[in-house]
Amino acid sequence: MATTEIKIPTEQIQAAVKRKERVPAPTVVVIFGASGDLTKRKLLPALFHLEQGDLLPQEFGMIGVARRDLTATFADDMKDGIVEFGGATPDNPKLAGFIEKVSYHPMNFDDDTGYEKLKEHLVAFDTKYGVKCNRLFYLAVAPEYFSGILHFLGRHGMAKSENSHVRVIIEKPFGHDLESARILNADVNQVLDEDQIFRIDHYLGKETVQNILVFRFANGIFEPIWNRNYIDHIQITAAESIGIEGRGPFYEKAGALRDVMQNHMMELLSFVCMEPPVSFEAAAVRHEKVKVWKAIQSIQMDDAVRGQYGPGEINGKAVKGYRQEDRVDPNSQTETFVALKLGIENWRWAGVPIYLRTGKRLAKRETEITIQFKQPPMLLFGGNTSGPCSDIQPNLITMRIQPDEGISLRFGAKVPSPDMTVCPVDMNFQYSTAFGTNSANGYERLLLDAMLGDATLFAHRDGVEATWTLMTPVLQAWANAKPADFPNYAGGSWGPQCAEELIGRDGRRWNNV
Ligand code: BG6
Repeated sequence: MATTEIKIPTEQIQAAVKRKERVPAPTVVVIFGASGDLTKRKLLPALFHLEQGDLLPQEFGMIGVARRDLTATFADDMKDGIVEFGGATPDNPKLAGFIEKVSYHPMNFDDDTGYEKLKEHLVAFDTKYGVKCNRLFYLAVAPEYFSGILHFLGRHGMAKSENSHVRVIIEKPFGHDLESARILNADVNQVLDEDQIFRIDHYLGKETVQNILVFRFANGIFEPIWNRNYIDHIQITAAESIGIEGRGPFYEKAGALRDVMQNHMMELLSFVCMEPPVSFEAAAVRHEKVKVWKAIQSIQMDDAVRGQYGPGEINGKAVKGYRQEDRVDPNSQTETFVALKLGIENWRWAGVPIYLRTGKRLAKRETEITIQFKQPPMLLFGGNTSGPCSDIQPNLITMRIQPDEGISLRFGAKVPSPDMTVCPVDMNFQYSTAFGTNSANGYERLLLDAMLGDATLFAHRDGVEATWTLMTPVLQAWANAKPADFPNYAGGSWGPQCAEELIGRDGRRWNNV
């Protein structure tokens, strides 16, 4: 295997990261649901990475909001999170200064007094900095609280501001089907204008996901062949080896289709398949994405399969089945795996099948996209069966989203020998080799963009409704036809047999590495 050895000079990378126009105006970030895991594991480490990169304004504040009174311990707990999950050392000179800007505000989400006090807390930051700070509210709470919190913010005059920006990040899941997403969108729009709303999908913050667009549209050689004339089919896999990580009650209601397929996988699909936007601005990018989702034919029920993991073994360790997980119904019918076959009915993609699969407790953690090209006529070499590797394989472009981020191109090469034996080889680009390791978790970029008011990498209401339009009939059909064979795959495998059959009946197979 040939490996590229391009190494980008560190100064060049730092210069790209520290472009000063990317530093937001004075801002206070308010995280609702701050006692949850997301704040400690992802959000605070991400904010601290921004601080380390000089990408936060001097006048910055963060207020954690949750019901429990954690005032005495919150800042220390966040510091521990930044060290444990953000890779900072406890004596990092910037950490102490950053933690001083972190505060806590206990309140019930339906308590008027709590909101009045929160307002005072926010005004205290304005007074301290002598400037009216922008406010970024982050709703990291269960979806049933979204509307309520927004209405209270509106009622207490915190949803709009004359001379500063108020923006709101809403975590997924954004609705649980088409109808609930529409209701939620309408509800949110009663309080906020669309340009204040940032529906987050952390996959869009991943460098490798954004790189799909760079790969396609900043290079001249791929776009001409990125269509049905050259491409045989596309596979997108988001495999996780972890289980549900103690999130039983959430996952029981969600399942793999709602948790990952409707959002992360659909975002990946849109980046791979969209037309070039006229600019990298929110409206242009979102418009092209929605066009892709709207061109997808409605999913046939025999093109959608589901699975649930039973007990198994991963990395030599025994793992429980889904039904044995904490706070999960022992007869649960929730799917932990889903595979779909889709078709996009437009000029670029008609006739190119797209296979998607995602699941928990699979053999390994791996998110990747494979573009498989049509094979040329093999007359010239096909007759050779004598060599060590006479099986000629199609060209593949593989985009490795995570881990081992990179892109590879597979092609056939002549094996050095007296005859014409062809063997597949890979040309490989690795982020770690070219750019050094990247500790960003996806939230850095998105938090920064939201502070700057750039919604390009956030979901729009039309997009959310378009993806739910696709998924809701499958959800309904599955709700009416209980699976008879759950659990149908062992933890540590590549999923249920029905997923192999889904792709196998077209004479293809999943690219498991
Ligand atoms: C979340 C899902 O949105 O994405 C989780 O709720 C899933 O169930 C996670 O594990 C996957 O994200 P990542 O970044 O680890 O691939």
